[in-house]
Parts: sequence; C-alpha cells; structure tokens
Amino acid sequence: MKASQVVCLTLLYSLTVSAQVLKPGKCPDNVAVQADFDVTKYVGKWYDIERLPASFQNGECATALYTLTSPGVIGVLNSELLDNGSIHTVNGTVWVTDPEEPAKMEVFFSEMAFPGKYWVLSTDYVGHAVIYSCQDLGQVHELLAWILSREPTLSKSKLEQLNGLLTAAHVNVDEMIVTNQDPIYCSAKH
Ligand SMILES: *[C@@H]1O[C@H](CO)[C@@H](O)[C@H](O)[C@H]1NC(C)=O
Ligand SMILES: *[C@@H]1O[C@H](CO)[C@@H](O)[C@H](O)[C@H]1NC(C)=O
Repeated sequence: MKASQVVCLTLLYSLTVSAQVLKPGKCPDNVAVQADFDVTKYVGKWYDIERLPASFQNGECATALYTLTSPGVIGVLNSELLDNGSIHTVNGTVWVTDPEEPAKMEVFFSEMAFPGKYWVLSTDYVGHAVIYSCQDLGQVHELLAWILSREPTLSKSKLEQLNGLLTAAHVNVDEMIVTNQDPIYCSAKH
C-alpha cells in the first residue's frame, strides 16, 4: 500500500469517527440550486426534518432562526436539545457572495476554521427548504445536507420529492438521519 493510500485511509477513519459524510474525489460540479432565490423571503424559523450526520449536530429538535441583518446577510441562531436535557445554541452568519447566484451562499460559525458553503437547492419559502454543502478535502469531499420545514413535520410525499432532489445532487439519502421533532419530547425538556 502506498503512503498516500495510508494517509487517505487514516483521514477517512479519523473523520468517520467524527460522524461526517466523506466521499472519494472532488465535489460534484453539476448540482442545481434554487432559481431566483430571494434571501429576504427565506428568513424566519425552520425545523430540521432530516440531515446528513454532522459532527457539530448532536441533539434533536433542531431549529434554525434566520434574521435579515443587512441586504444579502442573515444572522443564524441554531438551537438543539441535547441528550442531557440542555439546549445548545450557536450563532452564525449566512451571506450571499455573488448576487448573480444568490442561492449559493456561505456560512460561518465562530467554531469554524473557515466559512462553509450554504447552498439552497430548493425552497418555496413557506413550506420546505433543502440545504446542501460540499467541501473539497484533498482526495475526498465532505457532504452536509438538511431538509427543513416551516412546521415540525413534512408530508411523506413532499419528503420523497425532496429526497429525489438530493439524489439528483449525488447525495445518498439512505445516509440521512431523521431529526426527532416530536412536540412532547421537544417541549418536555425546554
Ligand atoms: C449537557 O451536555 C453539554 C455538552 O456535553 C454540556 O455542555 C452541558 O453543560 C450539559 N448540561 C447539563 C445540564 O448537564
Ligand atoms: C445570537 O442571535 C440572537 C438572535 O438573532 C441575538 O439576539 C443574539 O444577540 C446573538 N448573540 C450573539 C452573541 O451574537
């Protein structure tokens, strides 16, 4: 086995333990995003319905609150309920980098080493949103994805449709985790 393969396997192993989804090669370059995305209509509260495993997301009942802070810039307040009953919140910023491609935004949280991608693949602003992020890491790429809803639930048919959209974006939807949004579970400890 070549040294580069050893490095690659070690990297894969160490990153697998931190529950990230890593795939060989570069990020796919043909991922379609929401046409005519309007960030001002995107603000407000969203419930996390399904997600790819992410090392920084360990709880359930996750919500994201977006507030327009200046044109093309939104403040983010992410909140989740941890196993031990405490609420974990984190503040961040999402912004439009290129007005020609407003759905291809970037995100930054204080614990991140550098900004990440925040691409809106699809949203109708009032019902659902599909978020996608891909980061090249040498010989592999890291994938993140979320299906969000304005309500704590999303119909099965809508979910199937959005999973189809993620599949078209080369996401293996079998790896998606359902986020517990059961109102009794989520409110009992709040
Ligand atoms: C729950 O766990 C988090 C993360 O490990 C920790 O920061 C927090 O203090 C804990 N809260 C309680 C009430 O034990
Ligand atoms: C976090 O976001 C909330 C809601 O937008 C805001 O009220 C709060 O001041 C922010 N905290 C920090 C430290 O930025």
